Amino acid sequence: MRQPFVAGNWKMFKTVEEARLLVIELAAGLANVPAVEKVLCPPFTALLAVHAMLVGTDLGVGAQNMHWEVSGAFTGEVSPSMLVELCKYVIIGHSERRSYFGETDETVNRKTRAALAHALTPIVCIGETLAEYEAGETAAVIKRQVRLGLAGLDLTSPVPLVIAYEPIWAIGTGRAATPADANAVIARFIRPALSSMYAAAVSQSVRVLYGGSVKASNAKEFFTQPDIDGALVGGASLKAPEFIPIVQAAVP
Ligand code: PGA
Repeated sequence: MRQPFVAGNWKMFKTVEEARLLVIELAAGLANVPAVEKVLCPPFTALLAVHAMLVGTDLGVGAQNMHWEVSGAFTGEVSPSMLVELCKYVIIGHSERRSYFGETDETVNRKTRAALAHALTPIVCIGETLAEYEAGETAAVIKRQVRLGLAGLDLTSPVPLVIAYEPIWAIGTGRAATPADANAVIARFIRPALSSMYAAAVSQSVRVLYGGSVKASNAKEFFTQPDIDGALVGGASLKAPEFIPIVQAAVP
C-alpha cells in the first residue's frame, strides 16, 4: 500500500505575510485529514516562516528547487544543506525549470542524488510537451526522463522518492489529462522504466503523482486510479477552499 501524497506547489506566489495567512487557513482545514502525506512548497523567502508555523504538525514543507552542491560560489542558488534546516521535501525538474531555466535530465539527476544524500525527499517532475504528445512521443520522452533523471540513485527502503507525472500541456491550462490516460502513462511507462533500473519492490513502492490542472472538482477521479498516488497541485494550492478538498479527496 502506498500512502497518498498531495503537495501544493505555490510557484512564485505569496509574500511572507500572504504565506502566513494561507498557512493559518490550511493548518486549520487539514488538521484532521488522516492518512495523507501533505506538503506545502512555498517560495524560498517564505520557507522559514512556514516551517516555523508547521513544526509539530503533520503538514510538511518543501522547496521548489535547489542546487546540487553543498556550498560554493553559485550566486542566487540554495543548497541541500540549507534546505534541510527548513524542509523535508524538494521539487526537482519542474517543467517550468526545464523550459525557462535550462534544467536537463542531467541536472535533475544531480539534484535528485544530492537531495537523497541529504535526506530530503525529492519530488521529481517528468512530463511531455504538447508537441511531443501530439507526435506520439510520450512513451519515449517519459522513459528517457526516468532513465536519465533517476539513474544510479541510492534508494533505501521505504523508498524516499516521489515522482510527479505532469503532462506539460495540462499545467496551468485548465486542460487536465484524462485520469485513465494519466494512469496509463504511469502504469505502462513510468513503473516499468523504474523496474528495469531498480528492484521490483522499488517501482511498486515509489509514489507517483499526477499534476496539471488538478482542482477540487476533478481530484477524486485521479485518486481512484490504481497507479496514481496523489497530486502535485499548482494554481489550486493557493486557495484554502480549493486545496483542502483536494487533500480530503486523497483519503483512501
Ligand atoms: P497547475 O500546476 O495545477 O496550476 O496546473 C501544476 C504544477 O505546475 O505543478
